[in-house]
Formats: sequence, structure tokens, C-alpha cells
Amino acid sequence: MKRQPFFYDITLRDGNQSLKKPWNLQEKEFIFNKLIDFGVQAVEAGFPAASEMDFEAVERLAQIAPKNLVISALARAVEKDILKAAEAIKACEKPRIHTFIAMSPFNMKYVLNKQPAEVRKTAIEAVKFASEQIKKINKKGEIQFSVEHFGDCSENLDYVIDTLKDVVQAGANVINLPNTVERTRVKTFVDMVEKVYNALPKDIMIAVHCHNDLGMATAATVESYFAGATQLECCLNGLGERAGNTNIYEVAVALHNSGVDVPLNLGEIYELALFTADLSKVAIPEKAPLTGPEALAHRSGIHQDGAVKTKDMEKGAYRPIHPSLIGRKDDEKIGFTSQSGKTAVFEIISAAGYPITIQEAVRITPVVKEAAEKAGELPTRNIIDIYFNEVFNVKGDFKLVSFEKLSEKVFNLKFFHKTEFFDINANGNGPLDACLSALNQAGFPQKLVDYEQYALDGEIFGSGASAMTVIHFKDLDGKTIIARGKDENTLNANVKAIFNGLNLMNHKTN
Ligand code: KIV
Ligand code: ZN
Repeated sequence: MKRQPFFYDITLRDGNQSLKKPWNLQEKEFIFNKLIDFGVQAVEAGFPAASEMDFEAVERLAQIAPKNLVISALARAVEKDILKAAEAIKACEKPRIHTFIAMSPFNMKYVLNKQPAEVRKTAIEAVKFASEQIKKINKKGEIQFSVEHFGDCSENLDYVIDTLKDVVQAGANVINLPNTVERTRVKTFVDMVEKVYNALPKDIMIAVHCHNDLGMATAATVESYFAGATQLECCLNGLGERAGNTNIYEVAVALHNSGVDVPLNLGEIYELALFTADLSKVAIPEKAPLTGPEALAHRSGIHQDGAVKTKDMEKGAYRPIHPSLIGRKDDEKIGFTSQSGKTAVFEIISAAGYPITIQEAVRITPVVKEAAEKAGELPTRNIIDIYFNEVFNVKGDFKLVSFEKLSEKVFNLKFFHKTEFFDINANGNGPLDACLSALNQAGFPQKLVDYEQYALDGEIFGSGASAMTVIHFKDLDGKTIIARGKDENTLNANVKAIFNGLNLMNHKTN
């Protein structure tokens, strides 16, 4: 059995520090409670030394944290930060001080302006000091140490590993390997993570913290898990500095799809994403995996066909998961563009509550396609308008003028065929029979196979239509034609259906 990943959420620290308007305490509490419901195992609550506001927020979250949740506070590798961090988290059951220093050759030289030996000493001393402080507040407290810019340490990896061995000796329980700026291949980073994992004692939890500068943070995090990292540092909605941190939903679902037991309530993902977007004022991109408005939209005819055929199955032809896994109820969206086909017409019209057969969808698709070629994606309303025109108002050689009941069995039918006018009285067992008999007299015999009548839902069809007739004809080639008519009364609905059918059959009269 694969080990369970440990989700360490950094939304309230890395995510918050990158917001145009960082959250206030109340907003932080909202997110914090959502994270608890979602089931993360650890929350990095903030950077207490950064400001009084940050300190108060971390302190408050530590006070209200559930017993089993790790509350971590960030601190640079300096004593005053570590003291502030310890003070802020002292009220919770599982406090963790997270201290860090950069170890990449570039950063040590140009940013810290320190020699590697000096950085090593600082790291070891900071962890030792943090370890002493945490023991004062809670015997079970932990120390996390991060090699900032670990992703840039390929040239001096041996130095990093040697330093980490000492850092572990000094009291670190968790070693975090950030890809602080994503610049290289996922494989290069993951291989480095694996080397560290192999070099350190197995009771040390390895963590990864990947930024998404090249859009590969999810891949780097997921593959690092398989290379030995258990703690996965992620943000809600992929918030975080620059292009963000690893998106927690993507990692959770990718691991779930790989058969890993993910200890999160995946069904909360969609709601949580919407909530976070709202609170952070960072919109979810249209094409964001899983949670984007477009993430389940299909526009190509081939994809629409596959999507519809598999829509009720757990595995879908063109989606990574069933939307219900992440609590998405909007399902797969079918949008009609010039690339779409009959399946889309059928699905869109059916979903809007209108009756349509595949045969009808095939027939009206070229008309819808032509409109989409000019306008781009067509709103459902436009497709419905085309449907009404093409299904209930079929244009052709036949034009109904009127149909009236003269007596119990006698009806009068007036119509044009091309420019010729017909005014015919006919007998029949009911209006349909009389209308067909009048057409027969006029030289247009019809073979009616079947017919059905429905009461229409006024809310969908409008108050002007309350009856619908569906007629099945056999055309001259023996093919069945389905025609519909709708009206306030059944009599007119019947006759309209017949005339729509006549026009559909492209009657060979000449
Ligand atoms: O990106 C980073 O390296 C960090 C560290 C402080 C862990 O956020
Ligand atoms: Zn970061």
C-alpha cells in the first residue's frame, strides 16, 4: 500500500503574502475553517515576525486550531523571528516552527552575500535555537527546515545534503525542499529530491514546496511524492508568489487517480475553489484544470460525441475525472461552435427541456453550424430559436392558410402549394383524417404512420402554445419523417404538424 501524503497548506502564508490585498484576521479565519473542513493535516498560518497583524492572526488561528492539526509559523533563520514564531503558536496542540535559509550558489553569493560555510552554520544554529524554543512550549512540537532555492542547488547538492544531515542532528523533523523559482525540468528537480530522501534518516519527513513559474508545479510535486516526499506544500487555487504555488486540487486528484489514498475531502474542491476566488479576488482562469469554467466544456463534434456517450460513467472519454468527485454539479458543458455537430444540438436542445430526436438534430445542424460560423459560440437561446424555426415552422412549397371545422365531420382546408391556392372541404373521422383527405383530393396523398399529442409546458414554450402534435410520415422513398406542430389548440397543432411534414418531405409534385 502506498503511504498517505501529508498535505501542508500554505495559502495563509505564501498565498496571502502574494495577494494585492492580504486578508484580515476575519478573512483568514474563513479560509482556515475551510481548510479544516477540507481535511489538510497542517496549516502554515503566517509569518509572525512580518507584522503585528501577522502575529495576531497566527496566534488566533493557533488558539482555535483542532487538536490534530499542525500549526506552523514561518521564521527566517534569525533568533528574533524564531522567538516570535514560538510565541504565536504556543496555544495549539501541534506547533511547528518553520525556519529557512537560501543555499543555492547564486543566492548565497548575490542575495545573502555569505560563504557556504557561514550559511551552514546559520542553518544549524537556527534549527538548534528553534528546537530549544519549541520544547519550551510543547514537548511534541516540531521543527521544519527549508532549503530556500533548493531547485537551484544541482551544482552544490553534496554541500546541501551534508548541511541537512547536521540540521537533522540539530533537531529538524521535517526537511523542506522548495523549488522557489521554477526554472528547470521536473525530472532534474525530482532526482534531487530523491537524492536527499535517500541520504537522510527515514524518520525525517521530506517535504516539497513548488512554485509554478513554468506551469509544472503540480507535476513536480506529484512526482516528488513518488520519489519519497511525503509532505506536499500546496495552496488553494494555486495562489502564491508570482505564478503561484502548487495547486492543491490538482495534486490531490492526480494522486487519487494514481491509486493513492488522499486524506482530503475531494468533494469539497469545487465549492472551496469558488469561495477562495471570491475571497482572494483572484479569478479562476477559464481554462484552469478541474475548477475552471471551461474545464469541462466540449466544442469539437468528436469530443462531444464521446462525452455524451460516457457522461454517466465514472471514466469519461474526454475528462480526467467524473465532475462529482470534486463536487462539481455543472457536469460536462457542450458548447456549439463551427467545430460542433449533431450531438451538441441534440444535447443542448434536450437539456433546455425541448423535445428533439437525433434525426431532427441531424437536419438542423447545418443551419446551426452556419450561424456559428458567423457568430462563434452560439448562446443556447439562439440554438433554441433555430430549433423553433426549423422544427415548428418548416419552410417549403406548402403554406397553410386555415383549417376550420364546418360541422361534426366536415372540415375546410385552405392552403397554397407554391403559387396555387386550394380551398377544399373534406369529411373525416376527426381533424387529422379530414386534413389528410383534403390533401388527397388536392393530389398530395400522405402516408401517416403514427401520431402523438402532448400538452406543452407553458413555462418553456410560452403561453401561446399548449399543445404539440408529433406525426410520423412515410415519404415517397419509404423513409420515416417526424414532424411537429404546436398551437394553443390541438386541432391547429395537428394541421401545422402535417404541413411541416409536407415541407420536410420535399414533396415530389411536379
Ligand atoms: O518558496 C520558498 O522557498 C518559500 C520558503 C520560505 C519555504 O516560500
Ligand atoms: Zn514559496
